[in-house]
Amino acid sequence: MTTLTQQLRELSTTIAVAGAEHALSQRRLGFGVDTKSSMTDLVTDVDRSTEAMIVSRILTARPDDGLLGEEGGERAGTTGVRWVIDPIDGTTNFVYDHPGWAVSIGVEVDGVVVAGAVACPSLSMTYSAAAGEGATCNGAALQLPDTAPPLAHALVGTGFSYDSHTRRRQAQRLVTVLPNVRDIRRVGAAAVDLCSVAAGRLDAYFEEGLGPWDLAAGGLIAAEAGAHTSSLDGGPIADGSVLVCHPGLAAELVELLARAAREIDDSPS
Ligand code: IPD
Ligand code: CA
Repeated sequence: MTTLTQQLRELSTTIAVAGAEHALSQRRLGFGVDTKSSMTDLVTDVDRSTEAMIVSRILTARPDDGLLGEEGGERAGTTGVRWVIDPIDGTTNFVYDHPGWAVSIGVEVDGVVVAGAVACPSLSMTYSAAAGEGATCNGAALQLPDTAPPLAHALVGTGFSYDSHTRRRQAQRLVTVLPNVRDIRRVGAAAVDLCSVAAGRLDAYFEEGLGPWDLAAGGLIAAEAGAHTSSLDGGPIADGSVLVCHPGLAAELVELLARAAREIDDSPS
């Protein structure tokens, strides 16, 4: 008999894949682009139509659940289950036709993420996870190796906010981090970065200011693959501050990020 968690994993995967196919086909037809929180924060017609399609599929299958979508979908449910949706994570990549974008769907039960899926159609990869049941990419189990690389050999992903003041602080943080690691990657989709840690394509990823939709599915996928997950300061994830890495790198990265924070000049530019 399948458990609720397994059912939610299967349903989130099916709907994320359908959402990704919808977004890809709409992309080929052409789309309008708008801005949201700042001139750098893009949203397209396809973000909105993909969210609408995902919401309709969820409510057809589970009409009494709650949901939260990046493009405005919000609904209180009565079942304790809430779907947290980013219809396109990596909208800038989507607009410019860079492959690093994904549909991300996490599912909470009583406020805790227990299942989720991230579908990356341009990379032909679909990740999923369920709490206590592991993570997969295209059906193959993901598990971090026993041994972490030394920090100096770690490939570290990060991302940037759409707020220019926050970006200035994020750039300054890299002044301290970059000389101490193998290199930095800025792929442009937090959900893809989190899955990349799970798959060993990144040794670590950190960012501040993420939305719950950026994090819900990918955070569970990384944790189920054996990754450390915390905020930048090593405490529980809060306010979108996130550090996900091989557990063997966590202490040194928390220390490096704390040093980076002390060295930030936060005076107005
Ligand atoms: C953004 C991407 C980006 C990250 C930003 C997110 P969006 O999501 O995940 O990589 O750096 O913090 O807001 O706007 O493309 O859905
Ligand atoms: Ca988005």
